[in-house]
Amino acid sequence: MVDDRPFSHDDLEDISSEASMTRRRKIEHIEICLDENVQCQASTMFEDIEFIHNSLPEIDKDKIDLTTNFFGLKASAPLMIAAMTGGHPHTLGINERLAIAAEELGLPIGVGSQRAAVEDPSLADTFRIVRERAPSVPVIANIGATHVEAAPDAVAMIDADILAVHLNPLQEAIQPEGDINSEGMIESIAAIVDSVDIPVIAKETGAGISAEVARSLEEIGIDGVDVGGVGGTSWAAVEYFRALKEEDDVKAQLGLEYWSWGIPTALSIIMVLDSTELDVIATGGIRSGMDVAKALSLGAISTGVAYPVLRPAVHGSSLDVIVELEKILESLKVAMYLNGCQSVGDFSSRPLILRGRLVEALKSLDIDYKKVARGS
Ligand SMILES: Cc1cc2nc3c(=O)[nH]c(=O)nc-3n(C[C@H](O)[C@H](O)[C@H](O)COP(=O)(O)O)c2cc1C
Repeated sequence: MVDDRPFSHDDLEDISSEASMTRRRKIEHIEICLDENVQCQASTMFEDIEFIHNSLPEIDKDKIDLTTNFFGLKASAPLMIAAMTGGHPHTLGINERLAIAAEELGLPIGVGSQRAAVEDPSLADTFRIVRERAPSVPVIANIGATHVEAAPDAVAMIDADILAVHLNPLQEAIQPEGDINSEGMIESIAAIVDSVDIPVIAKETGAGISAEVARSLEEIGIDGVDVGGVGGTSWAAVEYFRALKEEDDVKAQLGLEYWSWGIPTALSIIMVLDSTELDVIATGGIRSGMDVAKALSLGAISTGVAYPVLRPAVHGSSLDVIVELEKILESLKVAMYLNGCQSVGDFSSRPLILRGRLVEALKSLDIDYKKVARGS
């Protein structure tokens, strides 16, 4: 039988220090995402949004312009490769393949949490490769909300254009060795914003951002949020599988219970835009060009995918990553054509039909769903 596991088990054995445990965890996360079903059981709620078909689009599909203003920088389309990895020698090739694809398509790319490499510079190459292979696209650095001192180094390490501060309390709460003290986090994020001179965004990792959180983030000067909502990869699920392996029954039970905890991506976009002026990126369950189109129609400036490009980046080539991304972009163009949208900004004036759980949720939050639907 062919063993197509991305990493040998020798990679997982050295757990003598905290640093090596962090490295090992990165590999475990990738293996679990590829070997197990870690997708949310709840949906993004994009299924509760429908476009109104336009039989007279009056545009030429070949002239559709996907160009996007991404925090003052140019991206070829409203789609990015979301933060995933780096920090273990075996992740260098993965980041390289992702970066080559991003550069080829002109798409922004994020790296995974850089804290390990700030603490152990021998790991910096696994992140630097992204800037080396993607010299002309927006590159997004990534650190946790409490890692204030690490922020300037993380940005310098990859000559980043934007810094993402990740928020992952759900994962930490389920993770056997999770950091569950969130006291003072908003001050920490404010200090991070002050410590760098590039745009800073806050990024959830699969549980969504509420109106209240978005307002707090806006008050401290954040430039945008990546809502990282429910409907795609579930970090409670990933940690459930790690807890099972470690025979931690309590954490495993928690992982099951909280598997789909959080705010669905579509609802989160609406909540953030209803309550702030922040620029919104949508990750969390973006799986098709239609999902991208729906996120844009709600007012997101861009979207991102992690899980859909993980397998090709681990087992395949940069070309395989490009093929996955091109499927999404081609489907986005069809959605634009059938909506009569010449450019991505045109989505904001297209009417929508909203229904089901999304409308119920908006009503219970006292958000005017008819305004979101624009006259439907
Ligand atoms: C293997 C893997 C590793 C990830 N690591 C990070 C990370 O280090 N920092 C971060 O902000 N998000 C991380 N994420 C979260 C993604 O950036 C994204 O927000 C989330 O997976 C939802 O997108 P998806 O449904 O397309 O996977 C990771 C996702 C995956 C699949």
